[in-house]
Amino acid sequence: MRQPIYYVNGKFVQAKRAALPLNDLGILRGYGVFDVLRTYDGVPFRLRDHVERLKNSARQIDLELPWSSEELEALGRETLARNDYANANIRYIVTGGPSSNFMTPEGNPSLMIMVTPVPPVDETPYTKGCKVTTTYMVRERPTVKSIGYIGAIMAAEQAKRAGALEALYKNERNEVTEGTRSNFFMIKGDQLITSAHEVLEGVTRRVALELAPPLFTVLQRPIHYCELRYIDEAFITSTTKELIPVVQIDDIPIGDGRPGPKVAQLHRRFQEYVRQQVSMAESPEKQSLVEPI
Ligand code: PDD
Repeated sequence: MRQPIYYVNGKFVQAKRAALPLNDLGILRGYGVFDVLRTYDGVPFRLRDHVERLKNSARQIDLELPWSSEELEALGRETLARNDYANANIRYIVTGGPSSNFMTPEGNPSLMIMVTPVPPVDETPYTKGCKVTTTYMVRERPTVKSIGYIGAIMAAEQAKRAGALEALYKNERNEVTEGTRSNFFMIKGDQLITSAHEVLEGVTRRVALELAPPLFTVLQRPIHYCELRYIDEAFITSTTKELIPVVQIDDIPIGDGRPGPKVAQLHRRFQEYVRQQVSMAESPEKQSLVEPI
């Protein structure tokens, strides 16, 4: 087995040798951002979107990046090529870099890229649906994919103890915004509804919204907790989960408590889109032949 290779500040190194100086602001102060994407059959999915979101996250915390989008993409692809996984997660991490007084950024951010295999998928939540819990949480900068996940880790662990797959955040108005590592959608009749405020703009969310129109009318608006009793279906989205049907929120059964047909339909459409993207990336000459979804 080849040793996993990571990229760390200009070098490709064995994962077990990958290291940062302890005076890095990511370690000292949680000053940093990250992004995660995955590959399908070796093809990175929506790489540009993830790199743009990484840069956008950095911009929002005043962290100036010396790398262009093209450079970041090329480094991601190169790290991927130095490993050997058909399906991999690619994790970009950018931190404030070393600081001699342990507080002030010195204009030398750290960049790490970790490539890891996609773990085997448990099909149960896709076929039986999942339970989620809710917890009060307002993220300080929801549109930043910050490395600070203290609240998320605590909420996710609490959810796990309650037998749930994910915890959804509720704000002070009792609106459900998103999950610790996912976006949240509900379906009511032919309406697909998701919050546009106080959420990370998920790439999977974006693709789901792009693919929705023939099946749904899309509404981006706040979702009040009280509405959840009256919806037909619900699901969460993320890079690592794609679309997972939600059949219970706290003690509220969703629809008839089983995964509904509409989430399944949208998920099939998502997977068809992924196959199309992979096939176009593998043989670009097909591009003009494939009917876009
Ligand atoms: N998390 N909201 C939050 C707070 C997230 O952390 C994530 C992703 C999402 C979904 O975004 P996307 O569809 O682009 O993955 C929404 C990643 C997967 C993680 O933390 O591992």
